[in-house]
Amino acid sequence: MQSSALRTSQIFGALFSLLLLNAGAVPQLIQPGELWPDDRGQHIQAHGGGILKVGDTYYWFGEERSRGLNPTYRYVSCYSSTNLAQWTFRKHALKVYDPEHFHAGWILERPKVFYNAKTKKFVMYMHVDDEGYKLARVGVAVSDTVDGDYQWVKSFRPLGHESRDIGQFVDDDGTAYLIFEDRPFGFRIVKLSDDYLDVEKEMCLIPMHMEGGAVVHYQGLYYAIGSALTGWNANPNKYATAKSLEGPWSEFKDIAPPEKNTFGAQSTMMVKVVGTKATTVIFMGDIWKPATQWDSRYLWMPLEIGDGKLALPEPKPWTLDVVTGEAVIQK
Ligand code: GAL
Repeated sequence: MQSSALRTSQIFGALFSLLLLNAGAVPQLIQPGELWPDDRGQHIQAHGGGILKVGDTYYWFGEERSRGLNPTYRYVSCYSSTNLAQWTFRKHALKVYDPEHFHAGWILERPKVFYNAKTKKFVMYMHVDDEGYKLARVGVAVSDTVDGDYQWVKSFRPLGHESRDIGQFVDDDGTAYLIFEDRPFGFRIVKLSDDYLDVEKEMCLIPMHMEGGAVVHYQGLYYAIGSALTGWNANPNKYATAKSLEGPWSEFKDIAPPEKNTFGAQSTMMVKVVGTKATTVIFMGDIWKPATQWDSRYLWMPLEIGDGKLALPEPKPWTLDVVTGEAVIQK
């Protein structure tokens, strides 16, 4: 028979373990505009990025802009997280040296990764260009594993069109789309081919000049957002809605009071987190610092979205419970 002292200590032990478990599950703060340290304590380098969810793990890919890297290479970083707040640096998923003789100062921006269930390959799209942004092409690289090493496949102009900023959208039925800015005309949403190595079909051309294009499908409506063409400088980002990707698309409206210039950020993606109690759509944006790009920040906030309206609230620290899908903005 156990002594009552032993039983009491066992009960306390169990309670303590429960407390610890709960502490592990306490949602962590996401702090827009602040330095965002990874597991090594280094500011996350995933600019112009995108998110891919595999199982319960989120992977964040983006432009690596640290100082001190070999300048002849271009790098795409990969981080992983199960709560979207605390990120582990995995590796440079892509490290590539001018694969098609673009030019010494060639540019690799806005990488996005799709998973193709048929080929079981991870397919990375990115904007590739020369220093003067005249080539206007997309690059494609593939890997058997999510964090690489990605191998270069090719570059091309989607359906023959100029393509600068790109975005990624995967619909609820799993169909994958590329969004790209076609300077003379506007921005286009195109369906990827079966193996994702090409683009197959144009869904729409939205005759609006928008960069950082992103789309989310929420409660039966498609919402598209993007920024005006002001380079690294922030501008009022806008949104439009449509019942189908083919359109017709509504007029574009501001996502925040226009004088706020999107609180200094530029859109790169919208991430939909479907939980047991709520669905949160996260605005993922970049606060660029062109003279010190390694220090560029991120603005992630839960959007106010629904009934054809979308609004980016004033940035404040917030938490997200990825299980319930609930976001709580601090007062
Ligand atoms: C921005 C674009 C960035 C980068 C920059 C260069 O408008 O969104 O990805 O290309 O211009 O000036």
